[in-house]
Amino acid sequence: MSENFWSDAERHLVRYIGASSFVPEIIERAEGAFLWTADGRRLLDFTSGQMSAILGHSHPAVVATIQRQAATLDHLFSGMLSRPVVDLARRLAESLPEPLSKVLLLTTGAESNEAAIRMAKLVTGNHEIISFARSWHGMTQAAAGATYSSGRKGYGPAAPGNFAIPTPNAFRPDFTTADGDLDWRRQLDFSFELFDAQSVGSLAACIVEPILSSGGVIDLPPGYLGALRDRVHARGGLLILDEAQTGLCRTGDWYAFQRDGVVPDILTLSKTLGAGLPLAAVVTSPQIERTAHERGFLFFTTHVSDPLVAAVGNTVLDVLTTERLDVRAADLGSYLRKGLRELATRHPVIGDVRGRGLLIGLELVEDRGRPADEIGAAVTRRCLELGLHMNVVQLPGMGGVFRIAPALTSSTAELDLGLEILDQAISEVTTA
Ligand SMILES: Cc1ncc(COP(=O)(O)O)c(C=O)c1O
Repeated sequence: MSENFWSDAERHLVRYIGASSFVPEIIERAEGAFLWTADGRRLLDFTSGQMSAILGHSHPAVVATIQRQAATLDHLFSGMLSRPVVDLARRLAESLPEPLSKVLLLTTGAESNEAAIRMAKLVTGNHEIISFARSWHGMTQAAAGATYSSGRKGYGPAAPGNFAIPTPNAFRPDFTTADGDLDWRRQLDFSFELFDAQSVGSLAACIVEPILSSGGVIDLPPGYLGALRDRVHARGGLLILDEAQTGLCRTGDWYAFQRDGVVPDILTLSKTLGAGLPLAAVVTSPQIERTAHERGFLFFTTHVSDPLVAAVGNTVLDVLTTERLDVRAADLGSYLRKGLRELATRHPVIGDVRGRGLLIGLELVEDRGRPADEIGAAVTRRCLELGLHMNVVQLPGMGGVFRIAPALTSSTAELDLGLEILDQAISEVTTA
């Protein structure tokens, strides 16, 4: 029947992935760290779905919550409240530093960024938005306006007042110290010199990911976030941190911003919060929330404050806490990075291994005249044949970067299996 599947897919599905193609496998089911294909093959999922399934697939506690909640209270009029929603808001606030205590529960990452940007504009009375030139914040209007890593061409004018600043990339530094290292302070000064020259003096917000994921797993240098916040505040704007992929223990901390001790004005959470279910949150201070409310803040959507996914969010927090998955992500991350660095000693095509906790980037470089993106595509294909799902991001000016983000519940045996398959795939592709 798979023949019909692919011809039906070709006939009836909109292709939404740009120049890429659908993964050529029919996925029938998923459990823990693995997916099973229609022909019975098992695939190790090294991207936790779309970087979301931090508890693995179909975690028993999540399954039980969905079954119970769907049978008792699924969805409501958007102006009605229920216990899972208020519980999740309180528990998120308890997991965060002061003054982040006011929560709006939504559905997707783009939507949470849309709401955060809308709130920042209303509260500051300004409209300009700064983000990184390698950013990804989502596909809706304001989120896409602040997204530069791809997808800008051909959709008409972006909103006026969006500005890109260079991404501080330590592996491929543009501003360098005398030793050739990234000079992020000079880069940041330059960024704001350019911004000031173009700005009409109306900065609403700067929105950034603490580790750019779609931008190639680029961790901000320690100190950068604080310096960025100070520059944004000096111009009257708010700092929005998009922790779609980094929030909820993945980097070894509950939130990636904890490493820097920088509390954002607005925090957005999504992918990892629902661990694969569509749940997102905007979190801010009582002061910002009050001003927004006084000015009539409106973000009334069909699925705002939905009890079903809020209950899942509570279960995700339960599992993260009881299983100490922050510590586990840090330990497994060190283990996996060590294994990947060992591969790098034997495979010159691996240019860099980076990241924090279980959000790891492995950047390929040109190998004996063969371009990195071609090698990346071939390694991805071979991994799939061998039973490992990998995702490679290909951006201009970079080699292919594998984004490796296994579930935080993975075992070391599962990570070893991934390392083994990757080793074999790279060996075969680079000696072919
Ligand atoms: C950092 C970041 N923000 C926002 C988004 C958008 O989330 P969604 O696709 O759920 O709208 C993504 C998605 O990849 C992301 O990586």
